[in-house]
Amino acid sequence: MQKVVTSCILFFLLNAPLFAQISPRYKDKNAPVEERIDNLLALMTLEEKVLQMNQWAYGHNANPNNIESIMREVRPEIGSLIFRSTNPEYRNQIQKKAMEESRLGIPIICGFDVIHGYRTVFPIPLAQACSWNTDLVKQSCSVAAKEAWLSGIDWTFSPMLDVARDARWGRVAEGYGEDPYANATFAIAAVHGYQGDTLANKYTIAACLKHYLGYSLSEGGRDYHYSDVSNQTLWETFMPPFEAGIKAGAATVMSGFNDIAGVPASANHFTLTEVLKNRWGHDGFVVSDWGSVKNLIDQGVAKDLKESGLKAFMAGVEMDMVDNVYVDHLPSLVAEGKVPMSSIDEAVRRILRIKFRLGLFENPYVDVVAEEKRYLQKEDLQLAEQLAAESMVLLKNEKETLPLKSSFKNLAIIGPMVKDSVHIMGSWEGQGRPQDVETLWAGLNKEFKGKAKLHYAQGCDYDGEDTTGFAAALAAAYQSDAVIVFLGEKRNWSGENGSRSTIALPHIQEQLVAALRKTGKPLILMLSSGRPLELIRLNKLADAMVELWQPGTCGGSAAAGILSGRINPSGKLAITFPQTTGQIPIYYNMRQSARPYSGHYQDIPRDPLYWFGHGLSYTTYSYGPVHLSSTTISKAQRIIAEVEVTNTGTRAGKETVLWFIADPVANISRPMKELKFFEKKTINAGEKTIYRFEIDPIRDLSYVDSNGTRHLETGDYFVLVNDQKVKFELIE
Ligand code: GLC
Repeated sequence: MQKVVTSCILFFLLNAPLFAQISPRYKDKNAPVEERIDNLLALMTLEEKVLQMNQWAYGHNANPNNIESIMREVRPEIGSLIFRSTNPEYRNQIQKKAMEESRLGIPIICGFDVIHGYRTVFPIPLAQACSWNTDLVKQSCSVAAKEAWLSGIDWTFSPMLDVARDARWGRVAEGYGEDPYANATFAIAAVHGYQGDTLANKYTIAACLKHYLGYSLSEGGRDYHYSDVSNQTLWETFMPPFEAGIKAGAATVMSGFNDIAGVPASANHFTLTEVLKNRWGHDGFVVSDWGSVKNLIDQGVAKDLKESGLKAFMAGVEMDMVDNVYVDHLPSLVAEGKVPMSSIDEAVRRILRIKFRLGLFENPYVDVVAEEKRYLQKEDLQLAEQLAAESMVLLKNEKETLPLKSSFKNLAIIGPMVKDSVHIMGSWEGQGRPQDVETLWAGLNKEFKGKAKLHYAQGCDYDGEDTTGFAAALAAAYQSDAVIVFLGEKRNWSGENGSRSTIALPHIQEQLVAALRKTGKPLILMLSSGRPLELIRLNKLADAMVELWQPGTCGGSAAAGILSGRINPSGKLAITFPQTTGQIPIYYNMRQSARPYSGHYQDIPRDPLYWFGHGLSYTTYSYGPVHLSSTTISKAQRIIAEVEVTNTGTRAGKETVLWFIADPVANISRPMKELKFFEKKTINAGEKTIYRFEIDPIRDLSYVDSNGTRHLETGDYFVLVNDQKVKFELIE
């Protein structure tokens, strides 16, 4: 025996240099990811594991809502950074610390809010949804990913998928409107745009579906609040976009601030584990929203930081954003036996899995290219202008006021938005810079150069009571053939912590329009906002109105092109415009009331000012009769619905057809109708095209109950398109 031991020791000593050469399995890029994770976990200490579950912030904090607790010296073992610098060399320097100064060389994943662009700022997501162009949305996310990747970012906290329900809530700007199917469809486009074909590719970044879950029902539209959301609404309205994003391969999810009917989103085992992981099979990780772990104390479900860390972690939050609760308290919770080491390992496994899939172990550094090669590339700016143009919605156009007549040689250009280069980018502008923005004024001067003289007057500020600018505005109007007024919101009037008690524009802006109405000139309102606006009064004053939203870096030319007629508007509302703030909540997919023709507000019209799906064009379309391949189908069959659309106008246009299904009688009440498919196509003047919707009973006719169980009931259904409603029957 002694001889065996001696010879083994001798063998090892003689071959020690060789053993030192054999790197651990987790560094073998050809080994299966799960085996690499197994090997790495076995080598990690508890402290190293817990540090992987933490995200700190790095760089200047431009977000006033996220108060920096302390700026910490970056430890090489930290799991993630919110990386706010645009300098890839900083990122590489920090990453070098992680790769070379830590014991195991685990790369840091750098995240940032790339919400609607990085340096090239695209329209806000709510605007993008109004384009109904999923391909443009996907391309915009791909451009954003490339610009971010070249700046050192591996991970974006996007797309935001909170189905809109209350326009007082400023964050309706960040999502894709009031319909679950639309949010789900754009979620898929965004995830594919950000993540590309594989996460390990250059210029791709990990997506993050947020804010999971039910955040948009934040009570009264006040941000960060209690959400009295039923399980039925969770399953039917708020979960579908997240399930679609997960199925599309989204790498991560962010838990929200809101309290989901008594159990906060960041401590909700049902949503974070039972549904997200066990039912949908999500194998990435969940990051908390900024400080939402420690906010569990404010929400009254944790007595101290330690308990907030316990509750968030055991519910299914794998990474703690910036409040350091996990670093400070998980080790002792493990030591006390309250947190099993196996749970720690599973959480770290999920984080490492995304890091391996991103290829960070093999390629921890980004290519450093010259700034002029990183951002604002010509083709990307063209894409931004196209998406801006297709997002804008022609709400009203009496007497064909628009496009402006070529005989108009003098145009009054009025309003606080005209020369703005900040608010036009909207909230969450990323690394967008005002100096990169083409203002509305710049776009107008380019568009009407040599065609019309522009007479500018600001008229008024966004808010306040100063009417001294009205005189100059009126003077400009009287010497012009038409008056175009650019009104709107400041960018911080929407977005996070951007709740407003009214969605009307400040009175001073309405006063300016009322004064200009008296000139009798054609009056066009161009509105820039991050939410639907209360337009009940302005609608009566304007001959034409266009919702520009917050169009980003290239909004100027897009808006000018719509005024001149170079661009035929094709946007349709992805969110309803109420008559007044008091009409909220109102959305197209509501349930029928017990008395459909009464019980409405007595002081305003029953219907909203503009419904979901509303949007005019400079051409006209005629819809032929909807044709169904059959009016009776079994559950195993499909039915083809077709409608022929003719462009009966004098110019080409892009028409979006929205297909809805209504289920008038079921075991539970159902929304009056639900969007199930949409398609946007170009139709030249005088030409026609067929739009087709293949109805799949399980996908399109079933409903989910409050337990998440899906039901498909036989009986009558309707397919609705434009102003048609056609019945068909489902049999066993
Ligand atoms: C914010 C937002 C969230 C964002 C995060 C990081 O508070 O709620 O949407 O991604 O913090 O900035």
